[in-house]
Amino acid sequence: MDSNILNNLKLTKVAASKIDTFDFENVKFGEKFTDHMLVCEYKNGEWGTLEIKPYAPITLDPSARVFHYGQAIFEGMKAYKEDNNDIWMFRPDQNFERFNKSAIRLAMPAIDETRFIGGLRELIKVEKEWVRKGLGNSLYIRPFMIATESGVIASPSNEFLFCILLSPAKSYYAGKIKVQIADYYSRAANGGIGAAKAAGNYSAQFYPTKLAQEAGFNQVIWTDSNHTHLEEAGTMNVFFRINDTLFTAPTSDRILDGVTRKSLIQLGESLGYDIKIEPVQVDTILNSAKNGTLKEIFGAGTAAVVNQIEGFSYKDQYYQLPEMADEGSYALQLKNALTKLQNKLADDPFNWTVKI
Ligand SMILES: Cc1ncc(COP(=O)(O)O)c(C=O)c1O
Repeated sequence: MDSNILNNLKLTKVAASKIDTFDFENVKFGEKFTDHMLVCEYKNGEWGTLEIKPYAPITLDPSARVFHYGQAIFEGMKAYKEDNNDIWMFRPDQNFERFNKSAIRLAMPAIDETRFIGGLRELIKVEKEWVRKGLGNSLYIRPFMIATESGVIASPSNEFLFCILLSPAKSYYAGKIKVQIADYYSRAANGGIGAAKAAGNYSAQFYPTKLAQEAGFNQVIWTDSNHTHLEEAGTMNVFFRINDTLFTAPTSDRILDGVTRKSLIQLGESLGYDIKIEPVQVDTILNSAKNGTLKEIFGAGTAAVVNQIEGFSYKDQYYQLPEMADEGSYALQLKNALTKLQNKLADDPFNWTVKI
């Protein structure tokens, strides 16, 4: 960490916090934000001064490249408060690394660790009252970068804005979800930007996901370009349990390298699970659903940690997964183990949690 950058951080506090009017119990994911945000501009080939200031709209030229060419990336991560008021981030190094991989793929400048992780630490310190204790409470962290240079010229911007927003989150038990396996639309292409957390990957999913929702499903599980292999869901990586083996697809330039996915793999292995990271064929899943060996499917991502799937459709045929006692469910065992570790209610033998 470069202490000069942090010593020069400019802090402007709100005149009055809105925390007293904030309904922490009924907050909807990602809808409301804390009092302050962190911003930093990139100009003339370098990142500038970090600034923490009141959360407010940002003003951009209507021709700013982000509006026309979608040069925009983001991250999603969480912080948790322990009973003794210590605040912990979960694997921020992984989000920092992934952010810079996304930046490079979108022809944007990488940012240094001091501005990303150091700046985030300072922001969370200012907003520490917004992090609530107790299992299920967390602070969702949304770093992002956009191209701000003006000009409708289809070339990379030379100016960027890095910004971090904080949003108190509560995990509700949303219930099991139903998913549709993609057999026409694709989320990502070989050599494309699927592995980047780029804004365009999400807008590309909205229309097919809307069609799936109109047909009664919550999300789409994306497949490769031939629609023969299962890749990931809208905002989650996916695990399949056949008998007692867990399968998940290897990451590639089409799949986001999820922090939850890699954490569950390590955690599962430490619990003695048999986990295979290999391409998962749609046919294998259909056959195992038919012969009763497919026990569970679940998604893994920062927002919900683990999301159980109750059934899926493929080419208009619906497959219901078997009922499973909670104690026997790998999805619930893993969710329980990871959320306890994140909330400092269990040991962290992997040193994933980082104190603010
Ligand atoms: C497309 C996609 N896949 C997977 C994930 C899961 O990644 P992570 O566990 O890092 O949140 C996300 C969510 O961030 C995502 O947007």
